[in-house]
Amino acid sequence: MSETKHKSPYAVEVRGLSRSFGPRKILADVSFQLKHGEILTIMGGSGCGKSTLLRHIIGSLKPDSGEIYIDGTETTKLDDEEFSKVRKRFGMLFQTGALFNSMTVGENVALPILESSDVAPHIADLVVKLKLELVGLTGFENLKPAQISGGMKKRVAMARALALDPDLLFCDEPTSGLDPVMTSVIDTLTVDLTRKLGMSAIVVTHDMTSAFRIATQMVFLFEGRVVATGTPEEIKANPNPILQQFINGYADGPIPLKLSKDDYLKRLLQS
Ligand SMILES: Nc1ncnc2c1ncn2[C@@H]1O[C@H](COP(=O)(O)OP(=O)(O)OP(=O)(O)O)[C@@H](O)[C@H]1O
Ligand SMILES: [Mg+2]
Repeated sequence: MSETKHKSPYAVEVRGLSRSFGPRKILADVSFQLKHGEILTIMGGSGCGKSTLLRHIIGSLKPDSGEIYIDGTETTKLDDEEFSKVRKRFGMLFQTGALFNSMTVGENVALPILESSDVAPHIADLVVKLKLELVGLTGFENLKPAQISGGMKKRVAMARALALDPDLLFCDEPTSGLDPVMTSVIDTLTVDLTRKLGMSAIVVTHDMTSAFRIATQMVFLFEGRVVATGTPEEIKANPNPILQQFINGYADGPIPLKLSKDDYLKRLLQS
């Protein structure tokens, strides 16, 4: 991948991003950068705003304030048509996998190819074969999602995310619900494919083993705010008690173990 291909040193740059849903502030002044070729993990507890942040970066949500640059292009104010050009550079693996159960594995992977261009079906078939080979699922085209394991489904979702040869790969919890071996398979794939295909990646995860295995940069969120950014070594050495509690899985610390139903509702309604 030649450096001159890029407009900016950063594949993604987020500046001062804030977003509320009703009275609840979900993202508060979030800033970070992802350099080309790197894998950045967004970490933090359930409900801290990770998926919401990712949905802003891929343009499904608009912020109240702040900017998002994709290789130097500010995207938050682009209209749908302009954004669709930027979106062509993305591959996205959603938190729920989101495979269509009525379609075969091959049809699922072909979907973005057929949706985005006038590719002849036999060319799309060829691309599907290549993408399935990349994730180690050669020959699985004709099975339905119900006939394959959870780990295989994630790999099909990965093949689909790679269908349009993206520069940028976004994954939301790619290893959730997988056993440690399958988690390791997905992690290895993420690192290998990012390198081999010259991509940059943002991976949302609360799996610490996985995060420390794949990340070159980390962003840690707590209640919608960035509490730390840095390399895995810097994050490990960071004395912030929120971070240390999360990394080490301590029950005692600043992260509340459990909210009462009343506290939860109060927080939800901000009353
Ligand atoms: N469209 C929406 N409308 C209202 N509230 C929302 C919306 N989307 C997300 N939220 C709220 O924003 C908060 C953050 O949600 P988000 O899905 O980003 O969390 P997360 O960090 O990805 O959690 P998890 O690790 O469980 O996936 C949650 O409290 C959620 O209820
Ligand atoms: Mg999420």
